Amino acid sequence: MQRIFIANWKMNMSVAEMETYFQEFSKNSDFDNAEVVVCPPMPLLSLAAQHCAELGIALGAQNVFWEEAGAFTGEVSPLLLKDLGVQYVLIGHSERRQYFGETDQYVGRKVKAAIKAGLRPVVCVGESLIELRTNRTEDVIEEQISAVMRGLDPIEARRVIIAYEPVWAIGSGMTPTGEQVKEVALQIRKLMGDLFSLKIARDIKILYGGSVSPDNVDEFTASYVLHGALVGNASLDANKFSSLIQNGGGIRTASNQQEDTTPLHEGDFA
Ligand code: 13P
Repeated sequence: MQRIFIANWKMNMSVAEMETYFQEFSKNSDFDNAEVVVCPPMPLLSLAAQHCAELGIALGAQNVFWEEAGAFTGEVSPLLLKDLGVQYVLIGHSERRQYFGETDQYVGRKVKAAIKAGLRPVVCVGESLIELRTNRTEDVIEEQISAVMRGLDPIEARRVIIAYEPVWAIGSGMTPTGEQVKEVALQIRKLMGDLFSLKIARDIKILYGGSVSPDNVDEFTASYVLHGALVGNASLDANKFSSLIQNGGGIRTASNQQEDTTPLHEGDFA
């Protein structure tokens, strides 16, 4: 199965730090069965685009606006993102919902505009701690997914990737169990089946995000109902991100394996 690993750098990284990052990442960035996506801050997109093209990995953005052009100070057009070589865009991240008043309605409009521009939206959904404690996870997921999906036709819906990111797991070091994540992923598939078709329910790509590390990633990627991970903190270190991809099921291409420089001895062939 083709897996997807998305690095969400959030508001981190300078130009110089990014250069070092890609230099380091290039040593271990080729994976046979994984789509690797890096989402840098907006001003780094065009510089990052060159590195991503060289490494054969994909470029993502952390946000997008729903209009194509006009008097919207500070916003970024989906057409411009496309123009810069962006392929994926995070939409509705809980930090955007929490700090910038992003509602399900805004998320829906952004998703539609992103698809129209030829981008792949990665829609983030997930419950807060209080919602978890009051057993509202299922309701929250249903509300968030249906609000976005209702506005899409089946062809558009197939372009969407869903990232289940429980708000309480982001940056906290706490995670749900693999079993709990699997349950939510199955719920999302069922919702997609009710809204569209069994085929879309089966094919839709679902990622897990929230305190994913090289040590726990396999718990979330081992199951056939999940396709990979959306990674914050652990994606800021190139070597850590690379190990995370490998531990999450990414298979390094032969040409990219670190060369074994152990000297050969005659006895090795006995
Ligand atoms: P952390 O991996 O730092 O918990 O962040 C997750 C996240 O928000 C990715 O979008």
